[in-house]
Amino acid sequence: MKVGVIGSGSMGSGIAQVAATAGHEVYLCDSNPEALKKAKDKLLKILNRLVEKGRIDDPTAKAIFGRIYFMPDFKNFGDTDLVIEAIIENLEIKQSVFKSLEEIVSPNCILASNTSSLSIASIAGACKYAERVIGIHFFNPAPLMKLVEIIPAIQTSPKVLKESRAIIDAWGKLTVQAIDTPGFIVNRVARPFYGEALRILEEGVADVATIDWAMTELAGFRMGPFTLMDYIGNDVNYIVTETVFKSFYYDPRYKPSFTQQRLSQAGYHGRKTGRGYYDYTEGVEKPNPNKDKEKGQVIADRIVIMLINEAADALFLNVASKEDIDLAMTKGVNYPKGLLKWADEKGIIQCVSELDELYDLYREDRYRCSPLLRRMAKENQTFFG
Ligand SMILES: NC(=O)c1ccc[n+]([C@@H]2O[C@H](COP(=O)([O-])OP(=O)(O)OC[C@H]3O[C@@H](n4cnc5c(N)ncnc54)[C@H](O)[C@@H]3O)[C@@H](O)[C@H]2O)c1
Repeated sequence: MKVGVIGSGSMGSGIAQVAATAGHEVYLCDSNPEALKKAKDKLLKILNRLVEKGRIDDPTAKAIFGRIYFMPDFKNFGDTDLVIEAIIENLEIKQSVFKSLEEIVSPNCILASNTSSLSIASIAGACKYAERVIGIHFFNPAPLMKLVEIIPAIQTSPKVLKESRAIIDAWGKLTVQAIDTPGFIVNRVARPFYGEALRILEEGVADVATIDWAMTELAGFRMGPFTLMDYIGNDVNYIVTETVFKSFYYDPRYKPSFTQQRLSQAGYHGRKTGRGYYDYTEGVEKPNPNKDKEKGQVIADRIVIMLINEAADALFLNVASKEDIDLAMTKGVNYPKGLLKWADEKGIIQCVSELDELYDLYREDRYRCSPLLRRMAKENQTFFG
């Protein structure tokens, strides 16, 4: 099987590495020669590092690299069986690429997009054979992150869905299936991790260091929300939030924060610019959190319950199965526990009561409890029995 990858940026080069490691010949193309050269150098460096670390031997690294063919365009993609597109996140450009691609590949070739936020139906809509178009959403860095979201559009055929999932599973990834809705699973369910933390900050309940401390030390997350936003980049994180908000027809639950918008406007993007919520200038010490456990627990509980509500609502609206929702959050973004399992542990009645308390105080739709949780509380049910 031959795999084509369009776009050799952070995601495309990682996906090419994964496919070549799985034994496929990979055609990797990019319209920008510099990006292609950068990808080639980066892949070589990564493979050499894997050899140094003893993860693979030298002949294997050479064989993987030898299976990747770098190309300036997709003119030679005629014999590919699967093409994964990982170019700029722009619908018109993606649609035009898919249209031109269809003139080259065989009608049986599966065409996938790695888009984070665009609808797969709209990309498929530009194609002659829309039934072979699907979303295959890797996480960054693709060779390290186990999770891949598989998103069939309404046009996608069951055969293409089955084959795509089988291919990605065979690459050693953990696949979850989501319906074609904004943010799919991970980028939807994770919104409150950032949004509620920002809201707590804006209300002056606590500073960034304290909120980060509460989420790592008390709730068990690997990184606090502000450290993570600085790592992702406030520009990137803000745009995703805004896109999700608009795509949900301005549901207040996904409302972006002025604080983050201002940071983004100011160029305080986080680590990459040396300044975000924290100052990364050499010699500048990190601020100390206020380690008041009681106060910290209130913060952690508030963010966690909003995450649980989001996960429950995603299940309520059939975005994915309960197993896939929990798997996506633990394997895609390393949450310490599946959110629905967490809801069971907390007790569904307790979850509803925490959400209603927030709603009673704020009277904002943002804090509305998912009907699923309310129904389950009434019927004394749990997610996993
Ligand atoms: N970066 C992430 O964390 C991440 C995670 C999951 C999904 N995604 C999605 O993956 C896609 C790529 O993201 P990225 O971060 O790798 O971007 P990137 O900017 O690192 O790379 C995109 C590459 O595509 C090339 N390109 C642009 N238009 C092209 C065209 N018409 N033909 C061929 N090449 C073209 C660019 O030259 C660039 O090298 C986007 O849809 C993004 O939403 C990104």
